[in-house]
Amino acid sequence: MKKQSRVYRAPLIIALSVALQMGLNASAASAENSSKTSDPLAAEYLGTRTVSNEALEDARQIAVNGKGATWSCASCHGEDGAGNSTAPRIAGLAPGYITKQLHDYENGARKNANMEYVVQELNEEQMLALGQYYGALESPSSASPDLGGDIRRGRQLAQQGDWRVEVPACFSCHGSSGWGVSQAFPAIAAQHPSYTAVQLSNWKSGRRSNSPVKLMHGVAMALSDADIRAVADYLATLPPPQHGNDNRAQAGN
Ligand code: HEC
Ligand code: HEC
Repeated sequence: MKKQSRVYRAPLIIALSVALQMGLNASAASAENSSKTSDPLAAEYLGTRTVSNEALEDARQIAVNGKGATWSCASCHGEDGAGNSTAPRIAGLAPGYITKQLHDYENGARKNANMEYVVQELNEEQMLALGQYYGALESPSSASPDLGGDIRRGRQLAQQGDWRVEVPACFSCHGSSGWGVSQAFPAIAAQHPSYTAVQLSNWKSGRRSNSPVKLMHGVAMALSDADIRAVADYLATLPPPQHGNDNRAQAGN
């Protein structure tokens, strides 16, 4: 596995990471703008924001018990954020990615009635703190293949891609274990297949239109329905992201 991981690290992602890092250093003004919409820098910038200990404690309360009109996140995403067949795994996703998604439900780049309702009640500091809370959770996987997809085909798409149908290897962007890279390329391992499949279909239909420079729109357009089931089921067989051995740590390279 060690050996393979180098092969998957495609030049594309290195170039993109460099661009993201350069952008981060550019200026405070552009960093402010990048907290908005589907700017390629949004997740990277949000991942650099810090919050107070009080805000972190507040986020834990919201996550576990809810607060005022806000339902607890746990009521849908599970006690440990590992998700289920109706709400996705959010434990172990990068904090900047999580906060960006909350913004995207707020600004309409992602549509989901439940999450649109939830984010109405959250302020900016709570969104940042919830990103950090769930980003730090290392919960066991509760996902398993259930779409009847061809697992071998799914593994091929994830590890090598298939140039005959113009699908790049998923792991060239999402990390050699599917645990994500930096803040902008999310972990996709151990996700529930129904959620993964719906997201890929949403990019095809334009219902989800929040991917930086439309990276995922292009990938999803190239996937047939059978390939979507195959890759979604394969990803559900993988172990969840672990921070000790995490590509996110290499964000600064
Ligand atoms: C009523 C159920 C419900 C509640 C409560 C809820 N969620 Fe969700 N959440 C969902 C569903 C369903 C989705 C998938 C939506 C979609 O398809 O875009 C989702 C998606 C998400 C995503 C996107 C995940 C990804 O991988 O991109 C994040 C982040 C998230 N929720 C965070 C939260 C947080 C934080 C809270 C608590 C403040 C919360 N949710 C409360 C149902 C819920
Ligand atoms: C060129 C880079 C690139 C490639 C290749 C790529 N992705 Fe992505 N993917 C992204 C980025 C960037 C995002 C984050 C979009 C956002 O900010 O919401 C993403 C997001 C996702 C998500 C949403 C995760 C979530 O929690 O909601 C899924 C699912 C996904 N990708 C699956 C795949 C699959 C399956 C493949 C291979 C068939 C693949 N990706 C190939 C860049 C890529």
